[in-house]
Amino acid sequence: MCEHRVESKGNEAAREENNPAAADLERLGKMTGPLLAWYKANGRKLPWREKPEPYKIWISEIMLQQTRIEAVKPYFDRFMRELPDVKSLAEAEDDRLMKLWEGLGYYNRARNLKKAAGVIVREYGGVMPSEYRELKKLPGIGCYTAGAIASIAYGEAVPAVDGNVMRVLSRILASREDIGKPAVRKKAESMLEKIMPEEDAGAFNQGIMELGEVICVPNGRPRCGECPVRKDCLAAELCLTEELPVKAPPKKRRIEKRTVCILEHGDQVSLSRREDTGLLASLYELPNVEGHLVPKQLCSAFHLREDQVVSIEKLPDAKHIFSHVEWHMAGYRIIMEGELPKDLITAKKEELKTIYPLPNAFGRYTKLIK
Ligand code: ADE
Repeated sequence: MCEHRVESKGNEAAREENNPAAADLERLGKMTGPLLAWYKANGRKLPWREKPEPYKIWISEIMLQQTRIEAVKPYFDRFMRELPDVKSLAEAEDDRLMKLWEGLGYYNRARNLKKAAGVIVREYGGVMPSEYRELKKLPGIGCYTAGAIASIAYGEAVPAVDGNVMRVLSRILASREDIGKPAVRKKAESMLEKIMPEEDAGAFNQGIMELGEVICVPNGRPRCGECPVRKDCLAAELCLTEELPVKAPPKKRRIEKRTVCILEHGDQVSLSRREDTGLLASLYELPNVEGHLVPKQLCSAFHLREDQVVSIEKLPDAKHIFSHVEWHMAGYRIIMEGELPKDLITAKKEELKTIYPLPNAFGRYTKLIK
């Protein structure tokens, strides 16, 4: 708990006013030792940390860009069992890869993994390049991922700046700059490059990320009492931890109403395949149409013969949030007699678990298929 606001400017504050960049670097430089000691004593044991091979670091970092560590672990283990190296990833069947990624969202990231694996096989003899600059040329690998692989797997002294790192820096420096701006991130990278330890870059990068995930947490009170760098944190000193970081609110999402149907007959259900481009490209889906339909509109919307419909049951509404769109869904279960519609894919219910990648957006309804 922050007990007082510092009203008068001490020597340090005056120095920061005169040369803010140098003062920021000096302040950040002080955190290196305590951060490394804390990380070495407290860093979580994670499957990709035991033996930090580049392939494992790469896959884990891409998975971690959208999901929390605990949720990633089972995905990571399964991925490694099925696609244990670059070559197997390059040769993976698209549907299989999507099935392994099912539930993680941002499916283009998985597609880029396969593309990059192909480049590594063709141009690097199947061995992941070891330098930051080379890694960055690969599809789907930007500054953050290249920095994480190069530093953690190969020990190159380059930063890996994600949202956690930006939050930590913004608080340590009590900066009011918008951490969502690319220029602010670039500046953070350039400061970190100057202060990071040459010989321990991987531990340093993981240490700041970990600090952001377990101590310097977003939304709510950071656990400053347990923070190894609290004494050098300007936000803690000025009681600003709850106001920082500054981040512009995201753009408003478009709302799309949809009607989703479980069309079933015995142990079979109907699926369709999404287009090759756009949202959830090439994945499978439960048949759905735009708008919220009432029961009497369903047969014509889903091309069903009325005399083949045994029953129509209204299911609970559901909502799924993508980055730019929200789907507000009405759902129905339609039991059919005879065959399921020929213009759709007929799948065995049990195959939904093993073969067809169905995105989380339909999770509320796929759970109701028995
Ligand atoms: N979050 C994402 N990548 C991480 C890593 N390598 N260590 C700790 N937290 C992370």
